[in-house]
Amino acid sequence: MPEPSSPRLAVDRLSHVYPTAEGALQVLENISFTVQPQEFVCVVGPSGCGKSTLLKLLAGLFPPSEGTLFFEGAPLAGPSRRIGLVFQKANLMPWRTALANVRLPLELAGVPAADADARAQAALLRVGLAGFEHSLPRDLSGGMEQRVALARALAQDPDLLLLDEPFGALDALNRERLGAELLRLWEARRITVVMVTHSIPEALLLSDRVLALTPRPGQVRLALDVPLPRPRRLEMEHSPEFGELARRLRAAIS
Ligand SMILES: Nc1ncnc2c1ncn2[C@@H]1O[C@H](COP(=O)(O)OP(=O)(O)OP(=O)(O)O)[C@@H](O)[C@H]1O
Ligand SMILES: [Mg+2]
Repeated sequence: MPEPSSPRLAVDRLSHVYPTAEGALQVLENISFTVQPQEFVCVVGPSGCGKSTLLKLLAGLFPPSEGTLFFEGAPLAGPSRRIGLVFQKANLMPWRTALANVRLPLELAGVPAADADARAQAALLRVGLAGFEHSLPRDLSGGMEQRVALARALAQDPDLLLLDEPFGALDALNRERLGAELLRLWEARRITVVMVTHSIPEALLLSDRVLALTPRPGQVRLALDVPLPRPRRLEMEHSPEFGELARRLRAAIS
């Protein structure tokens, strides 16, 4: 009999407290969930409830105050090349071209130059930036910069992709367009994603499951399965099923 597939990520009773000048600030409390390979999970919740902190913990940037994190069956001990992280701001090196920005982590990982170039080119193509390889960040729009940041994470071929409001700084139209592109990208080659977003429609359109957190300290108030059929389309937002899921999510975070 085949083994049941083990989760890519298992979060068990995770809590986090920041020491501050005013004393201990508890931001996350008793968070448990798992993410299966090829699953797309979104995290929504009120501002300041600890979403970015949760993502940084999942990236191994620092250890949680309590609880455990398992990545591919082993305790997560620190940052891993197999985990890609994209923040709200692209954080590109201003003096490097788009291609050179995408290539940088590969260079640091010791990938031979020709290989790194080919992988960076392919990643830029996947995010729709063919022809902009040699542009500097200052010559790119905000949406294009975010695509470069996404390409930089994709080029590393991560087993887990963490996205922290990757379209948060964009205007509504650009945001919708990039959301639709991410959806296509993901449906073509399913990678395991955990994405933080403020947008309920974006979460429902993209994900298999949405975790709704309470105000700080963030706890999981609702883990909502999204049984909408794939491939998904923007028009699905107008279906009664979508509306009902949105209503449940809104109720959970209001
Ligand atoms: N390094 C830190 N030291 C102390 N407090 C911090 C630190 N980072 C975040 N905080 C505080 O922890 C709380 C949660 O922050 P976090 O950035 O995780 O929230 P968030 O849910 O991502 O918010 P937003 O939706 O606004 O992005 C906030 O009150 C924030 O001020
Ligand atoms: Mg945040």
